[in-house]
Amino acid sequence: MKITERPRRLRKNAATRSLVEETELLPKNLVWPVFIKDGANTKEEIASLPGCHRYSLDRLTEEAEKLSDLGLKAIALFPAIDDKLKNSKASEAANPEGLIPKAVRHLKAEIKDLVVITDVALDPYSSDGHDGLVKDGKILNDETLLVLAAQAKVQAEAGADFVAPSDMMDGRVGWIRQALDESGLAETGIISYTAKYASAFYGPFRDALASAPRFGDKKTYQMNPANSREALREARLDRSEGADMLMVKPALSYLDVIQRLQAKFDLPIAAYNVSGEYAMVKAAAKNGWLEERAAVLEILTSIRRAGASVILSYHTPDVLKWMQDRKP
Ligand code: PBG
Repeated sequence: MKITERPRRLRKNAATRSLVEETELLPKNLVWPVFIKDGANTKEEIASLPGCHRYSLDRLTEEAEKLSDLGLKAIALFPAIDDKLKNSKASEAANPEGLIPKAVRHLKAEIKDLVVITDVALDPYSSDGHDGLVKDGKILNDETLLVLAAQAKVQAEAGADFVAPSDMMDGRVGWIRQALDESGLAETGIISYTAKYASAFYGPFRDALASAPRFGDKKTYQMNPANSREALREARLDRSEGADMLMVKPALSYLDVIQRLQAKFDLPIAAYNVSGEYAMVKAAAKNGWLEERAAVLEILTSIRRAGASVILSYHTPDVLKWMQDRKP
């Protein structure tokens, strides 16, 4: 038969397929998001995130060292704060002796060349479980910026390479940038959660930190899942306020948003493969309904293909081990 184009010629065997492969997932693309808590010799599994744990700093260092040997380049820290330390002002967020600054100092001292990213938002520290300060049931924007700037400063002083505001208050990137610059912390970068959606996929994360909102939802600050042009607006603002990277979150339901930002902006794009996305795969794999390794690699490759060069994923430890096994 006369068929001029036969795309299957490029798929005929593994060597040919690898020759024409367009996207590669590498250890350097992955960031390990990890939960930490006070104490020693502790590694508690999180029920809704099988395979993920809350680590005390000694155990975290042990694990991060092993992963660093497997090619891990970056880690993002999330604190499980004792309920007694939470209050309506989220004051623990800016405590220079708090869990996060301690963890940053520890990791920077113990592990060479590991990029340490810290989260800037009030929810783990707030008795209201919201990312900003609350008054009369409303989330305050400008008042929150003062606390976020103080929080970012403490993290940067401890040695964080990047602070990552995930709060979605207006003006926070500029405000944080200014606070860092005025404190002689111009070298600390900002990875902004630029397009962070009010998503149903954050449930297991909120279990991990006991940080679910105590009233209402986050729809007055996180974005509407129906919008992608609005992500361009957020990206324009973050860029003009001094962000070093733009993040889309969640990843899998928002591949179009990743692609749009990648095409339009000249900053690196990060994507957060969030807790609910991880939990879905784990649950299906546990039931024998999906082959875990193939599904995970397909998902992460699709996030790369969409245009993210930095991927935060709870699958990171597994993927690094699989990549090691694959080596000759
Ligand atoms: C909150 C924050 C959330 C996540 C990261 N930072 C949850 C939320 O906005 O309620 C979710 C990450 C995940 O689900 O893996 N500042």
